[in-house]
Amino acid sequence: MADPLQSAINNQQSKICVVAGDGVGKEVIPAAVEVLGSLGLGLEFVEADAGFERFQKSGNAIPDATLAEIESAGVAMFGATSSPTTGAVAGYRSPILAMRRAFDLYANLRPVRSLPGPFSRPNVDLLIVRENTEGMYAGRERRDGDTAIAERVITARGSERIARVAFAYARKLQISNLKSQTSNSKKQTVTVVHKANVLKVTDGLFRESCLKVAPEFPGVTVDEMLVDAMAMRLVRDPENFDVIVTTNLFGDILSDEAAALIGGLGIAPSANIGERAAVFEPVHGSAPDIAGQGIANPIGAILSAAMLLDHIGQGAAADRVRAAVNAVIVDRVWPRDLGGSATTREVTAAIIGNL
Ligand code: NAI
Ligand code: MG
Repeated sequence: MADPLQSAINNQQSKICVVAGDGVGKEVIPAAVEVLGSLGLGLEFVEADAGFERFQKSGNAIPDATLAEIESAGVAMFGATSSPTTGAVAGYRSPILAMRRAFDLYANLRPVRSLPGPFSRPNVDLLIVRENTEGMYAGRERRDGDTAIAERVITARGSERIARVAFAYARKLQISNLKSQTSNSKKQTVTVVHKANVLKVTDGLFRESCLKVAPEFPGVTVDEMLVDAMAMRLVRDPENFDVIVTTNLFGDILSDEAAALIGGLGIAPSANIGERAAVFEPVHGSAPDIAGQGIANPIGAILSAAMLLDHIGQGAAADRVRAAVNAVIVDRVWPRDLGGSATTREVTAAIIGNL
């Protein structure tokens, strides 16, 4: 069986497309690029434009040239874009949705790892694997008089391919834990999260598809849990979970909940993986309330850059970046959202100093 992670991994990849976007994206993405650039890997950065500001200037939120640059590089760092606040704006297409469609970025990976600070629960090390293209976000909503209807689309193909990503990661984590002989060398478990007791047809198919894939990964344990129970367990005993695989909406909600356990949106990284491209972005948005003040937390973007390094076969460099982030937290160089007063620049410089 082909490894779904392998097709996306391009060893010795050196070109990275950089799309900062709007608001704090313009502050945290340059910080992440500075960290990547200081690793001495000979990485080449190509800047491209997208976002609401771009739309207001040119009537196009994501030009085809940007999509072409991302496709040519194969990997991109993306900040965040603002959405128009007052309803639909004619001609506006959301850049992240356009990228997801153009490259079929079907796997959304959101690792949730403890940081060594008082704002973080200890011993949390889990990965949420969220299906990124269907479910409640399939875009099939309509209004019929006083009734509004959203269709929830689940396919066997979509469910099996996201399950394979989850199992393949669990297998990879297990192998790397064995190699490094960490205390965490226990068997990895994939927990399939659904609501198949109520959504019998759609989540019935999701559950069945995930369980069907499980035997392809004999070294990995499989478990399942209803989403409401999972929401409670994430608060009660998050340290007991390894890899969670779930549908689009549930994954969206659970991953924000999980981010709150370890320090909040400012430090949460993510990856959107497809077969033709992969886009790495902090979970947060453009944060207009703090944009332009130089106080945004760059750690979510910098940990997203570490995920990009993992993806292009630079796992050792990725570990260096994560270790430097931990060291800076131990040194109490905390930005405002973590309870400190360090600026974006100060946090970034401290991380680079620790590489
Ligand atoms: P947000 O994530 O931008 O902000 C939520 C809260 O977290 C704010 O108080 C903000 O100051 C804080 N925050 C966010 N990132 C931070 C950082 N790096 N350091 C410190 N504090 C940080 O979400 P919100 O306010 O709901 O949305 C603002 C805009 O961002 C909207 O236009 C929304 O559409 C867009 N957005 C874009 C996303 C994307 O491009 N992927 C994702 C989420 C929102
Ligand atoms: Mg984002």
